[in-house]
Amino acid sequence: MHLNLFVYGCGHHSAAWRHPDSQLERLTSIDYYEDLALLSERGRLDAIFFADGHSAREVDQAPGWSVEPITALAAVAARTERIGLVTTVSSTFFTPFHAARHLASLDHLSRGRIGANIVTSMWDAEARNHSLERMPAHAERYARADEFIETLIRLWDSWEDDAIVGDRAGIYADPAKVHRIDHAGEHFRIDGPLTVPRPPQGRPVLFQAGASETGRALAARWAEAIYAVAFDIEAGREYSGDVKRRIAEAGRDASSVAILPGLVAYVGSTEEEARRKKAALDALLPVEHSLAQLGLFIEQDASGWDVDAPMPELPPASEFTGPQGRYRTILRMIEVDTVDGVRPTVRQVLGRLAAGGGHATMIGTPEGIADEMQRWVEAGAADGFNLMPPLLPGSLEDFVEQVVPVLQRRGLFRREYGEREMFRERLGLPRP
Ligand SMILES: Cc1cc2nc3c(=O)[nH]c(=O)nc-3n(C[C@H](O)[C@H](O)[C@H](O)COP(=O)(O)O)c2cc1C
Repeated sequence: MHLNLFVYGCGHHSAAWRHPDSQLERLTSIDYYEDLALLSERGRLDAIFFADGHSAREVDQAPGWSVEPITALAAVAARTERIGLVTTVSSTFFTPFHAARHLASLDHLSRGRIGANIVTSMWDAEARNHSLERMPAHAERYARADEFIETLIRLWDSWEDDAIVGDRAGIYADPAKVHRIDHAGEHFRIDGPLTVPRPPQGRPVLFQAGASETGRALAARWAEAIYAVAFDIEAGREYSGDVKRRIAEAGRDASSVAILPGLVAYVGSTEEEARRKKAALDALLPVEHSLAQLGLFIEQDASGWDVDAPMPELPPASEFTGPQGRYRTILRMIEVDTVDGVRPTVRQVLGRLAAGGGHATMIGTPEGIADEMQRWVEAGAADGFNLMPPLLPGSLEDFVEQVVPVLQRRGLFRREYGEREMFRERLGLPRP
């Protein structure tokens, strides 16, 4: 299976930064990110991944996007040898030429370890940092993303592999092997060629993440690996089955496109200890703010609720008139945490929502978690996972030191990286 660390602030639990073991003071220090990458490399993970956004969020509630990922990955590339490095690039705000240069340069700096998660940004607050009044409509964002990826590829291909001659007495590069792209489309006009020679991988690996019809169609056309959201095996199978079918219909090899759902894992030497780790983070949640958020999702006033009392009954999804996806996930969260007819406390539900929201959550011993991961993969619900440790670096250390060895013993995960393997080879992707 493929495993990838999703780097995010002090961890994916929204109260992680409040925890005494969080590395709050290091969020703008490069050694924090280097250490996380080195730890991931020690665990032989496929890659580390930075998500990204272009607006400051509720700064009183969480640290947000502390460093810009392309900048951070350039430094991390210098300190690491093998781990893949995946950044997020907004197709809404970048121009393809900017993105192609940054990514090709990083691919050279890292000797072929770069991937890019191409997103369509979502928030008006981001649009207003980029000279727009509001976000373009969903379909418009995806149309731009499609043309964005097409031109990225053409720019990376604008230098042929053997374009550089490097003859001191003759020519540097063969002009016949460095091509203009002369692109004139709906959103972009680009002459090319790129300023940077062909990346070591040919093209950095293209990741994508998007759940709608249009999002899945874009993934089918271009994605070489996919970040997904699936609360349980059933949701993972639905998504994976559908997207792989679409990839095959687009005439591509679906088996080589890894689908990686997010995974929030609390690891303990006993199940009890794992639950205590979750409870310690849940205890740090600011109650008023968390209840207000829950209230928005379930369209009820939850402000007076006792967080340590059992979660009140919610109406079935068929009677709920608001957005269904999140609501159904909340119903499932209550269901999976109901033990012997005893419903979870409100705080336990807030804690699940606060760490990863609708992503898979596994709480247990290393063996128990490895069992569950194995079930997902064997059921065709995932080709691996995008690890979302609730607290960094602690939960990642737990995972690398305890769960990875179990997966390795079972032959489910690599013990070593391949010799001189570039990132795309590790994912089983052909070199374009
Ligand atoms: C797993 C996942 C990760 C995402 N990561 C980012 C991100 O880092 N930055 C961002 O601006 N958008 C991110 N997105 C948003 C998507 O690019 C897209 O805008 C959003 O999902 C809406 O499209 P959809 O309706 O197709 O899902 C992510 C989406 C998913 C599902």
